[in-house]
Amino acid sequence: MKLLDGKKVAAAMYEKLKVELASLKKKKIIPKLVIIQVGDDRASLSYIRSKMKVSQNLGIKSELLKFAPKEVTTEKLIRLINRLNRDKSVNAILVQVPLPSHIYEPEVFKAINPYKDVDGFTAYNLGKTFLSTEFEELAPCTPLGIIRLLDYYKIKVTGKEAVVVGASNLTGKPMALMLINRRATVTDCHSKTRNLAEHTRRADILIVAVGKEKLITADMVKKGAVVVDIGINRNKDGKMVGDVDFEKVSKKASYITPVPGGAGPLTVASLMENICKATLKQLKKGLI
Ligand code: GUN
Repeated sequence: MKLLDGKKVAAAMYEKLKVELASLKKKKIIPKLVIIQVGDDRASLSYIRSKMKVSQNLGIKSELLKFAPKEVTTEKLIRLINRLNRDKSVNAILVQVPLPSHIYEPEVFKAINPYKDVDGFTAYNLGKTFLSTEFEELAPCTPLGIIRLLDYYKIKVTGKEAVVVGASNLTGKPMALMLINRRATVTDCHSKTRNLAEHTRRADILIVAVGKEKLITADMVKKGAVVVDIGINRNKDGKMVGDVDFEKVSKKASYITPVPGGAGPLTVASLMENICKATLKQLKKGLI
């Protein structure tokens, strides 16, 4: 079994980005990310902290606009996003989810200028991700990070049985799409899937993004499978764990991601990649 080291892959991504950022700096352009957070979700706070810390390390500017839930409405958020869309000093807009239930998320995402949509959540960028690898420009960060991980370890995807567990708009669905673009044979399982194990046992590549500790046990995994765990959970001792029973599944898998240190650092690295890409695109279009 070989560990798929997300930190190592992220570090390699940062080396490439440093070259791009240096060439932008020569043109006097320093990308700027604005993060919008509504509420005090604990997990969101820790993700935002790491996004801002990595931005700072790379010399990307970042700003957090934080609101109490009762301060904002869908309309107010849209007005704020419209202002950021027009602001030439802002290259990247990220609305941290989950948003409180009185905010209508799809309308909020719709307001983001697709050129500044570094999460890849707008219909425009998702549509491009749908088409083919050639059009995947600003793809959603977590699945993009997993593609970078598979590429780094030279894990072939074409023709493989890939099973994605989880069908969220953020992760599961775009992950399945990106694997189809690479010509894997893809099954996407979700809460209504009958006999999950029957599907997971067929997987050459098993990608799990649900948020349920030990959802995937050793008997659900084919010997020699590549196992990617995107889940983040706290176990009863407060330790961060994934969706896969790592101890037992690692004895069967050929490759496996640890949690933490697998998908997490790659999501942040992909966001940085998207910030650079978005800024370059804005420059090319004469928008900045
Ligand atoms: N919440 C959890 N992960 C993410 C992410 O990648 N982007 C945003 N905007 N919110 C998140």
